[in-house]
Amino acid sequence: MKLSYLLVIFFVSISGSVGDGDDEFANYTITKRILPKHIAVGVATAAYQIEGAWNLDGKGEQVWDTFAHEHPERFAGRANGDVASDSYHFYKEDVAAMKEVGVNYYRFSIAWSRILPDGTVNNINQAGVDYYVRVFKELEANGIEAMVTLYHWDIPTALENQGGWLNPKVVDWFVDYARLCYKLFGKYVKSWVTINEPKQICHSGYGNGGFAPAKPSPGIGEYVCARHVLLAHAKAWRVFDREFRATLKSRNTIVIDSDWYEPTSYSEADAVAAETKRQFVYGMYANPVIKGNWPQVMIDNIARFSKAQGFNESRLPPFSEEEVALIKDTYDFIALNHYTSYMVSAITDPNHVGGVNWDEDSGVKSYQKSSWGTAAAGWFKIVPWGFGKLLRWVKETYGDKEIVITENGVSDTTGTLRDQHRIDYLRSYMSHMVDAIYDGGVNVTSYTVWSIIDNFEWTQGFGAKLGLYYVNMSDPLRPRIAKDSSRYLAKVIKTRCLLDSC
Ligand code: NOJ
Repeated sequence: MKLSYLLVIFFVSISGSVGDGDDEFANYTITKRILPKHIAVGVATAAYQIEGAWNLDGKGEQVWDTFAHEHPERFAGRANGDVASDSYHFYKEDVAAMKEVGVNYYRFSIAWSRILPDGTVNNINQAGVDYYVRVFKELEANGIEAMVTLYHWDIPTALENQGGWLNPKVVDWFVDYARLCYKLFGKYVKSWVTINEPKQICHSGYGNGGFAPAKPSPGIGEYVCARHVLLAHAKAWRVFDREFRATLKSRNTIVIDSDWYEPTSYSEADAVAAETKRQFVYGMYANPVIKGNWPQVMIDNIARFSKAQGFNESRLPPFSEEEVALIKDTYDFIALNHYTSYMVSAITDPNHVGGVNWDEDSGVKSYQKSSWGTAAAGWFKIVPWGFGKLLRWVKETYGDKEIVITENGVSDTTGTLRDQHRIDYLRSYMSHMVDAIYDGGVNVTSYTVWSIIDNFEWTQGFGAKLGLYYVNMSDPLRPRIAKDSSRYLAKVIKTRCLLDSC
């Protein structure tokens, strides 16, 4: 082989820029070894995944309670979150684990139906309020800051019975609930997240129906949901901004999740396809919040496909000018959840029209490489370099903003205490993040691991475990037992070194 040819292969490999050359980067690569001092480190959970106590002390039912009770067959092992990790009773053990790791902050969610059993502010459940105050005080006593998510997928069933995220009234229901939380808990909270991962709420909840409330309305309801989620977020953020910011001195944002989408080849068509997919996944929510409207490619594609499919108007409901102004700039920092990546290629037939759903509205094909490492769930391939590329792309596309990583982590099926694979995952993902910070100038300020403890992983039940601490779900006392990864993260927080050898 000629030297020049070898050099080309070498440079394509080390740049990891595009296409099949990326295989070299598919596994646990380390590019940087030191986590900058300014990066705060936290851990995350969500109410339904950890709390249990699904009907204790006046808590109302929410859609995941209802879905799991009515359709146990849709959950691995017919599991549900009735008790889960029982953090309602063992929150002190959670905080002790966080203290042991040495984290700076804890991201967790408030269960709407625990403080408002029927979803409305007409009926406040004091016992539920008291529970969260106990958690806040425990965090405070241990010097751990609170980052609170107001909505992590658990709309009260009483509101879902009136249409949930498809009913325009949901915007005001959510705003009332948010205002109450700012009032009740404001003095304890450093950062607020209005809504977690709208993509899952709308496309899984109302699109394919895989998640609660499991009301499939692909290509139609899922967009109505997205519109209401964005309006609810924006109004709740504006209430915070107007009525609470000055006194509370905290910050507020929305968490948007994104995979990385890499073109399959060096062709222009595949590059455009990958960018289109990014806009359909991340841009769909980030573009309205940062720039003020749906991404143009979504407006164009969905209008074109809707027409070809015989609809009178686009299935993507438009925002009015007032709504665009309302939604634009409703964030204090970018909050990003990231786990995995996909390859994307163009569909070359110019007359192609897909099915009526969000995924096919993008008009491109995506897949994951079998050579990529796999975590417990099929969708969950381990692609550390994708994280670095995503961060650089967010900066290029949306400007030089502060980015907080609000979730990153990896699952296994056993909950093994010797979780070297989790150490490898965290180390390699952090390493690519640090690369993006140093070499790409990306302004990441915090990094959050999902999760501090094993918990209820939605429809995967207890079959996918992501904790730094093992929880035996059959033990009534649910002891939190440190995994190797918790000691690894503790060492990183102390020494800032991502490797074992420093
Ligand atoms: C994102 C979600 O916010 C969280 O609830 C979930 O457990 C993790 N991803 C892992 O799948």
